[in-house]
Amino acid sequence: MNELKKYFPIFQKNPKIVYLDSGASAQKLQSVIDAMDDFYTQTYANIHRGLYKWSEVSSEMYDAVREKVAKFIGAKSPSEIVFTRGTTDAINLLAGSYSKLLMAGDEVIVSELEHHSNMLPWKNLENEKGVRVKFLPVLGDGNFDYAWLKQNVGERTKLVCVSGQSNVIGIKNNIPEIVKIAHQVGAKVLIDGAQLTVHSAVNVSRDDIDFYAFSGHKIYGPTGIGVLYGKLDLLKQMPPYQLGGDMVESVSFDNVVFKEPPSKFEAGTPPIAEVVGLGVAVDFLMNIGMDNVEREGAELTSYAIQRLSKIDGVHIISGKDSNSIVSFYIDGISSFDVGTLLGSRGICVRVGKHCAEPLHHRFGIDSSIRLSFGIYNDETDVDRFIEELEKVLLLLR
Ligand code: ALA
Repeated sequence: MNELKKYFPIFQKNPKIVYLDSGASAQKLQSVIDAMDDFYTQTYANIHRGLYKWSEVSSEMYDAVREKVAKFIGAKSPSEIVFTRGTTDAINLLAGSYSKLLMAGDEVIVSELEHHSNMLPWKNLENEKGVRVKFLPVLGDGNFDYAWLKQNVGERTKLVCVSGQSNVIGIKNNIPEIVKIAHQVGAKVLIDGAQLTVHSAVNVSRDDIDFYAFSGHKIYGPTGIGVLYGKLDLLKQMPPYQLGGDMVESVSFDNVVFKEPPSKFEAGTPPIAEVVGLGVAVDFLMNIGMDNVEREGAELTSYAIQRLSKIDGVHIISGKDSNSIVSFYIDGISSFDVGTLLGSRGICVRVGKHCAEPLHHRFGIDSSIRLSFGIYNDETDVDRFIEELEKVLLLLR
């Protein structure tokens, strides 16, 4: 058994579960649960407001996580880390704020494989602002058409918004290449790191990424917390997205002075305990080392692809370089039937379009079955899944 399973209480309570749906949400570390519990029972108070011990300690704990996250993703300063509710919230923050900087006729490029969270906020700007959204095509092997990107960026391109790793096919995109092409025309780059962050080492400074978004719940931390990284000079130029307490220096009836980033983007009482939990999850991953996580994920992915490809009628839409996410469909058999029968046997996978409907259209399929691995999975989970899949297929064929 993968020895990391012992850190996740769900596997002690449910020893038979085969959890292959970490791409939707990862299971929670006992240390994250304990830290949030301790925080609520021993320390909790609102932050940046109280002149008493509990508020001061809560504020210190909250601010310390910003530093940890900055280190985790290679940001130059904790001021570049904005806490949000999750990746979706982070991208909506960026789109909502940036919309005020864009003009009709400006272009935003997103790819055909984006999760709806990194497509709809930009599509919305078409209606609201007359911004043009262009779609970076995905080739048959699941990689971006980088030649198209080179030919289609221009002086009106203001943003290129793509995922670092597809939530459907698990292929890691070539971030340095995307950044190089976008920066040649002065466009900024947003990387949706919802999937990438938990499987690979990320370094936003080394890769010169302008904006980066990810969620706590996909990296073994709590729900309701995420991050928008932005280069400090860019965050300074952006207007606030939401308005309220703790984001202003001064307010009068005639004038409002906003705080500097990141406070400018964190109106209202934030998810304080969730930030504390996020810090513990980040520590855990940094202790394991993201290079180790990536290597183990790649090995398990090859094993799953090798076993799945021996089953008649299975079409794998992930590629040989996919990491920890493997999607497939089966000739003549409903993905939903397979998913439901697997679910009734304790095998947890995701079926459907995985909030990436245009990618399914691109591949000419209406649904797929997705395995997505976490650090607690190992070959025995894949073996159990294959064993049950074979039984399910006997029933359905
Ligand atoms: N974004 C999550 C997924 O891909 C929910 O399943």
